[in-house]
Amino acid sequence: MARRLLIAGNWKLHKTVEEAVALAGDIAAGLMRDDLDVLVIPGFLSLEPVALSLSASPVLVGGQNLFWEDQGAYTGEVSGPMLKACKAEQVIIAHSERRLYFNETEKTAAKRVQAALKAGLTPLLCVGETLGEREADQTDGVLESQLAGGLAGLKPAQAEKLIIAYEPVWAIGTGQTATEEQANRAHAFIRAWLGACFGKQVANQCRILYGGSVKPENAAGLMRQKEIDGALVGGASLQAESFLGIIEAA
Ligand code: 13P
Repeated sequence: MARRLLIAGNWKLHKTVEEAVALAGDIAAGLMRDDLDVLVIPGFLSLEPVALSLSASPVLVGGQNLFWEDQGAYTGEVSGPMLKACKAEQVIIAHSERRLYFNETEKTAAKRVQAALKAGLTPLLCVGETLGEREADQTDGVLESQLAGGLAGLKPAQAEKLIIAYEPVWAIGTGQTATEEQANRAHAFIRAWLGACFGKQVANQCRILYGGSVKPENAAGLMRQKEIDGALVGGASLQAESFLGIIEAA
């Protein structure tokens, strides 16, 4: 069975509620394809207003992070049930910016993956090497330890619900996209790892997205690669025109 493409926009720390709802509306109005999935991932405050504004549209809504406890004395955190109640269906876990600026680790990634599944959310686990790691030929090892760490304790029945995003850190926000070949190779490595760990069926089913300076101009070439099942877009998802351009090109 062919995997359905998923084009996701991670809005990071951008857009007020009003701006986010306007952007979501423009994306929904301009969406001309129904042969792929489209997901927008606004900041927490905009999640429910955006989800409500998209209720008549096929565009999906997700969260950028979650905490692993459902509730309690954890000031400033947001839980899986809270996201679910705001109509989020997916949640990003362990984005490299979370790893870099907020000290997230493989251990906390695993807790978040479990919490997401428990809440009925699809975990979108991010993995990817830094430039130094690539240059030192450590890419496979880094991917392997991020996958093994973040997916620790998962059963195959849980793993088939996962989405993995390969986001080489050196390509994020730099304009320096991985080549089609580099990206496809990393995706193939990730799929092989999933196969060895959870079985061939799970590996064939899991969508692996590429993220890192995806633009309308490079989307077609990347999305044509056998192992690439979609894109996790940052900067170019902040304007309807460029995000829709990526969707059209995919
Ligand atoms: P850019 O598309 O801005 O490089 O960001 C990618 C990303 O981090 C998506 O999560």
